[in-house]
Amino acid sequence: MSMTYLTISVPNGSGFALISEEVKAKHPKISYADLYQLAGVVAVEVTGGPTIDFVAGRKDSTDCTKEGRLPDAKQGAPHLRDIFYRMGLSDKDIVALSGGHTLGRAHRERSGFEGPWTAEPLKFDNSYFVELLKEDSEGLLKLPTDKALVEDPEFRRYVEIYAKDEEAFFNDYAASHKKLSELGFTPPSCFKLAVKNPAILAQSAVGVAVAAAVVILSYFYEVHRRVK
Ligand code: HEM
Repeated sequence: MSMTYLTISVPNGSGFALISEEVKAKHPKISYADLYQLAGVVAVEVTGGPTIDFVAGRKDSTDCTKEGRLPDAKQGAPHLRDIFYRMGLSDKDIVALSGGHTLGRAHRERSGFEGPWTAEPLKFDNSYFVELLKEDSEGLLKLPTDKALVEDPEFRRYVEIYAKDEEAFFNDYAASHKKLSELGFTPPSCFKLAVKNPAILAQSAVGVAVAAAVVILSYFYEVHRRVK
């Protein structure tokens, strides 16, 4: 699927999400909710980040959550916990997800902050955490909420791990991204059941193999019959 145009920016309520109508026009069955989430998954992967497991099936709604539920970048650790715990997310999720700031930049006209967090803002890597542990670098941004991740001892534990071990960051990021992206969404039950229960998964695999074998054998039987 080619994404021709994608911008997502959400802080301070003035943000917007714009996804190519071209994609929606070509693939009208996909909901906007799935399309936004898929775009996020693709953006992380094509910029060098981990592959995030994606399950479709979100339904669009005309209801809108009220303003003011996003984190405020000017606050600290207690505020981050208020916002993320409310969604059932943990300290590890907060730090891993903040690693999303490896991509992109802040814009003065939108949030009042300016600049990228890393030297290569189009590359998904662990450099956000490496920068957090360094003194301020010229031209690079640290929001008060970014700084809170090194000032709070619980958060800092994860910052230190991710700065040293990119694979650990990628694994945790992929898991936390999936968790966040499936809040309020229950993936289709047959899929979940099969994945949760290895016995059912194995049975389904055997079923598919048997069906495939039957098709192949009948094909050979037919070819053989015609040759005779
Ligand atoms: C932890 C709480 C968070 C706060 C306080 C926060 C705050 C901000 C702010 C102030 C900006 C700059 C907006 C602008 O001026 O254009 C921004 C941009 C951005 N944020 Fe966050 N953010 C948070 C979490 C996240 C998470 C969880 C992700 C993704 C996993 C994320 C990904 C991004 C990206 C990619 C940009 C750059 C957007 C662009 O380049 O236009 N942020 N964030």
